[in-house]
Amino acid sequence: MEGALTARDRVGVQDLVLLEAHTSETALLDNLRKRFHENLIYTYIGTLLVSLNPYKELDTYSKKHMDTYMGVNFFELPPHIYALADNVFRTMLSEFNNHFILISGESGAGKTETSKKVLQYYAVSCPNTSLLDNVRDRLLLSNPVLEAFGNAKTLKNDNSSRFGKYMDIQFDHQGGAVGGHILSYLLEKSRVVHQNHGERNFHIFYQLVAGGDDELLRWLGLERNCQNYSYLVQGDCAKVTSINDKSNWKIVRSALSIIEFSEKDVEQLFAIIASVLHLGNVKFATDALGYAVLKNVPELHWLSTLLGIPSQVLQQGLTHKKIEAKMEEVYSPFAVDHALYARDALAKAIYGRTFNWLVNKVNESLANKDSSRKTVIGLLDIYGFEVFHVNSFEQFCINYCNEKLQQLFIQLTLKSEQEEYQMEGIEWEPVPYFNNKIICDLVEEKHRGIISVLDEECLRPGEATDLTFLEKLEEKMGGHPHFVTHKLADQKTRKTMQRGDFRLLHYAGEVTYCVVGFLDKNNDLLYRNVKEVMRQSKNTIIKHCFPYTEPDSKKRPETVVTQFKGSLAGLTDVLMSKEPWYVRCIKPNDGRFDDVLVRHQVKYLGLMEHLRVRRAGFAYRRKYDIFLARYKPLCPSTWPKWKGSASEGVLCLVKHLGYKPNEYKMGRTKIFIRHPKTLFATEDAFELCKHDLATRIQAKYKGYRAKGDYLKQREAATKIENCWRGMMARKERDKRAWAVKVIKRFIKGFMMRNQPACSDNTEYLAFVRQNYLTRLKGNLPKTLLDKNSWPTPPPIMQEVRGTLPFYLRFYYTSMVLRNSLLVVEDSQIYAEDGIDELQFKALTSSMFKGKKENYPFSVCQPFQDTRISNPHHRLTPLTPSPWQPSGSLQYSVPLVKYDRNGFRPRLRQLILTQAAVYLVEEAKIKQRIDFNSLKGVSVSNLSDNFLIVHVVYDETKQKGDLILQCDYLFEALTKLSHIGNKESCIKVVQGSVRFDIQPGREGFIDFKSGQESMIYRSKNGHLMVVRMNGESHHSSCTPIRRGISKLIDSPVSQESTRTRSR
Ligand SMILES: Nc1ncnc2c1ncn2[C@@H]1O[C@H](COP(=O)(O)OP(=O)(O)OP(=O)(O)O)[C@@H](O)[C@H]1O
Ligand SMILES: [Mg+2]
Repeated sequence: MEGALTARDRVGVQDLVLLEAHTSETALLDNLRKRFHENLIYTYIGTLLVSLNPYKELDTYSKKHMDTYMGVNFFELPPHIYALADNVFRTMLSEFNNHFILISGESGAGKTETSKKVLQYYAVSCPNTSLLDNVRDRLLLSNPVLEAFGNAKTLKNDNSSRFGKYMDIQFDHQGGAVGGHILSYLLEKSRVVHQNHGERNFHIFYQLVAGGDDELLRWLGLERNCQNYSYLVQGDCAKVTSINDKSNWKIVRSALSIIEFSEKDVEQLFAIIASVLHLGNVKFATDALGYAVLKNVPELHWLSTLLGIPSQVLQQGLTHKKIEAKMEEVYSPFAVDHALYARDALAKAIYGRTFNWLVNKVNESLANKDSSRKTVIGLLDIYGFEVFHVNSFEQFCINYCNEKLQQLFIQLTLKSEQEEYQMEGIEWEPVPYFNNKIICDLVEEKHRGIISVLDEECLRPGEATDLTFLEKLEEKMGGHPHFVTHKLADQKTRKTMQRGDFRLLHYAGEVTYCVVGFLDKNNDLLYRNVKEVMRQSKNTIIKHCFPYTEPDSKKRPETVVTQFKGSLAGLTDVLMSKEPWYVRCIKPNDGRFDDVLVRHQVKYLGLMEHLRVRRAGFAYRRKYDIFLARYKPLCPSTWPKWKGSASEGVLCLVKHLGYKPNEYKMGRTKIFIRHPKTLFATEDAFELCKHDLATRIQAKYKGYRAKGDYLKQREAATKIENCWRGMMARKERDKRAWAVKVIKRFIKGFMMRNQPACSDNTEYLAFVRQNYLTRLKGNLPKTLLDKNSWPTPPPIMQEVRGTLPFYLRFYYTSMVLRNSLLVVEDSQIYAEDGIDELQFKALTSSMFKGKKENYPFSVCQPFQDTRISNPHHRLTPLTPSPWQPSGSLQYSVPLVKYDRNGFRPRLRQLILTQAAVYLVEEAKIKQRIDFNSLKGVSVSNLSDNFLIVHVVYDETKQKGDLILQCDYLFEALTKLSHIGNKESCIKVVQGSVRFDIQPGREGFIDFKSGQESMIYRSKNGHLMVVRMNGESHHSSCTPIRRGISKLIDSPVSQESTRTRSR
C-alpha cells in the first residue's frame, strides 16, 4: 500500500510519515515546497492534514471533486480537506460519537477558508430533505453574517477573523445535518474605536455605508462616505480594491432574511451600527471649569433617535460619572479625555454586546428542537498565533489562546499517545517533544501567573498603571525561562526591547508585548451610569444587551482576560470530550514559498514532533469490541458471533487475516496497528466481504421464504392426499358392499337352487346353467352317436339331460347343411320345444360372436317372443289408426329412442310384425318402417346396447334414421333379422356410426370405452356413448337408465348421478 501510495503521488510523498528522512525538518520542507509549486497544497501526517495557503483559486473544490472523495478511504486518493471531512463524517456515523476538527495556523494561513470548505462539503454530501436543506442554508449563510460583523482587514489578512469561532454541526443518525451551534470567543472590540495604519474596522460598517440604499442611509442619518466617520478612517484605508463592500452587503442582507431575522431586527441592528458611527463622531469641548461638554448636537440627535434614548440623558451619560457616596449619588463631570474614553468604552460595549446578541440569534435559527440523540462535528476556527511589530493586550490574549490549543494538541496527541501506550502495556520509546505547559502556567497559574498579576493590578486600590503592572511582573516572574523584560534581559537582548516591554518565549517563538493599555483594556470599564442610560433605550436589541438583571457593579465585573481564560477552559472541556482531527494551516507568504516563514510555522505547529510520534508509534488503534464488531465477518470463527472475550476474538481475527507480528500489538483494551496499509487491506477486505454478507443474508431469507412455501405446499398436498384416500376408501367400501351383496345373492340363490324359480334364485340358476354350458362347450362328445360321455348336468338342468343330445345332433346337422347350402328337408323332425331358440341363438352367434363385446353375456339369456306383458291388449285402443300394425305380432320389446337433433331420450316400444317394424309410445304408434324401407342396422363393437336403424328416405314422412337403445339388443336384432330376413343388413362397426338426421343432414354417434358409462352430447355435436370397461351384461340395464337419467331430468337420474359420484 505504501508503494502504491507513493506511486499515486505525483510530487513528493502525500503522507509525510512515508518520508525516508522523517527526522529531517529540511526534508519535510522540501516535500512541502515541491508539492506547493505543483499546486498540491495538502499533505498528510497520518490523519493530520497540512494545508498551505495557495493564495489563488484552485480547481479542486468542484462538486465533481466532492463526489470523488465521498465514501473513499482516507489514503486512497490524494490528500484533500474533503478526504478528511469525509473520514470524520463516516467515522462519526459508524461509531456514533462526537468529533471536532481543530483548524489552526497563523493569521491569513487559511483557517476560515478551510472551515468553509468543510461546511460546503457537508452541505453537498449529506443526505438531503427540504427540512435539512433549510438548516444547511442557514449553516452556510451564518458565515457571511458573522464574517461581516466579526472580520476585518488587517495587515496580514484582508478577511481576518477578529473573534474565535467554534461551530458544532449536529447530525441525525442517518447523517443529515439537522442543526448547529456557534460559540464565539473574545471579539477584538478595540478595533471599533481604533485601527492600526493599513487596517480597517469591522466589515459591516463599510458595507452599510457603501451598500445600504439611500433611504436606509437617510433614516440612519448616514452619508455615503466613510471618510466622514472617524471610527472608519484611522487605518487610512477605508477603500480596498480586494474587498467589494457593496456586493458583500447584498449577500449579508439576504443572508439575514434567510436566517430568520425579522425586518424589525434588521432595522434595529443597523440603527445600532449607525449609532456607533455617530458616537465616534461625537466631539467634546472644554467648558469654563475645564469639564467636557458635547460639541456637535446633530450627532447627539441621531444617537438619541436611533437608540431611542432622550438627548439629555445621553448627554449626561457621556459627560458625567455617577459616584455613590454613603447614602447619596453624585454626578461628577468628566474632563475631555475622560469623556472620550467613556465614549469609546460605550461604542465598544454596544458593538461587543450586539455581536453576542447576533451570535445568539444565529444560534436560535440553527437550533434543532428535536430531542433525539445527535452526533456533532465541531469546527474550531480560531485566531492564529500573531506577532506584530508592536504587540498589545489583544495579541497577548490571542497567543495565550494558541498556547492553550497547543497544550490541548499535545495532550490529545503526543502526550496522550505515549500515555495510552503505557496504559495499554505496549512498549514505547518516549519521543522527545516540547511541552508548552510551562508557558501556559506562566500565563494562567493562579496567584502567580501573568493573568493573576494583571487582574491584581486592575483591581487593587491606589494608583495602578501599566508600568506598575510591569514591575509586578518582573517581581514575580523574574528568572522564569520563558519571561524576560528590558530590566531582566541580558545586554544583548536588552537592545531589542523597549523599557515598557515584556517578552514571552512562546512555543511558537518569541513575542514582545508593549504593556501600554493592558490595564485599561483588561478593565474594559463601562461606567455604571452609562449602562443605566442604555437600559432606557427603546431599541429592543440594546435593551436585550443591557438588561436590568445585570449584576450591578458594586462588585467589579470580571476582567476581560479572566473572562477569556474561563471561556478557553470551557472550550478545552468541550474539545476534550470529542475525537480530535487536525488541520494545520501554513501561510507560505503571498504566493511565494518563503522557507524561513514556513520553517517557523512548521516548528510552532509542532509538525516534526507529530511526525516523529506517528513514525515511532502506531497509525491506528481501536477498542477491541469496536474493532471486532466491524471486522468480525472476515473470519469464520468470529462470525456471526464470538463467544469469548473481545481481545481473544480480535487475536483470532488478526491471525486469520495474516497480520505479521510486527504489524500490530495487542494492548490491554485496544489493538494497535502500525501501518495504515495493514488497516486499509483489512478495510478493503471488509468492503468486499460486505457484498458476500449481503448475499448470504439474502440467501438465508430466500431459504426461509422457500421453506415457508414448501411447508404450505406440503400441507396442501397432505390435505389433497387425505381427500383422495378418503374417496378411494369410500369407493373400495362401495365395491365391497356390492361384492357382499353379490355373494349374499349367490349364497341365497345356492340355498334356494332346488326351489321353483323366483327372484332370489334366478341369477344363481342362470349362473349354474351358464357354467354348465361353458363346461359343456369344451367337453362335447366327439360323435353324434356318443351318448354316454355327456357331462352330468346340475340337478336344475336334469330336464336337458335327454334333450341335449338332440340339440347337438341338430346343431351338427344344421352346420353341415348350412355349409353345403342344402335345405334341410326334414328339419321339422327336430321341431320340438327349444329348437327355435337354438336356431335363434345360432343366428345371433353368426352375427355377433367375436364382433361385439357383450355378446358372450347374452348367450345364457333365453330369448322370448315379447318383453311387454300384453302388447296386443295395449295396442287395441289404437286400432282405428292407419298405423295399426298389420300382420301378426312377432316380437315386442321396450327401448329408448333418442331424438336425432337434441338426443333427448324417450321411452318407446318396438314391435315387429311380419311386414314392418313399429315404434310405439304407450298405445300410440309413432312410426312404422316397412322391412323394404329398412336399409340396415348398425351397432358398435363395444358392450353398449345402441342400435341405429337406417331407413330409406320417405318424402311424405320426412323422417331420418332411428337411434335406439335396447336392453335386449341381441334378442331384438336376432328377431328383426329373422323376421325381416335382414341378417346381412346388420353391421357391427367400430368407432363412429353415421346416421341421417334428415335427408342431406348427417349426424354421428361416437362409441368408446372408458372409466365410467356415460351418454352425452359432446362439444362437436355428436352423441357420445361411453361404455365402462368390463361392465357385464347383467348390469346392462344400468347404462340405459343412466343414459336416460343423464339426458332427462327424472328422479331416477338423480339417484344414478349420486351412485356415480360416490
Ligand atoms: N484553499 C484556499 N484556496 C484559495 N485561497 C485561499 C485558500 N485558503 C486561504 N486562501 C486565501 O487566503 C486568505 C486568508 O485566508 P483565511 O481568511 O482563511 O485565513 P485565516 O487563517 O482565517 O486568518 P485569520 O486568522 O486572520 O482569520 C483568504 O481570503 C483567501 O484569499
Ligand atoms: Mg479566519
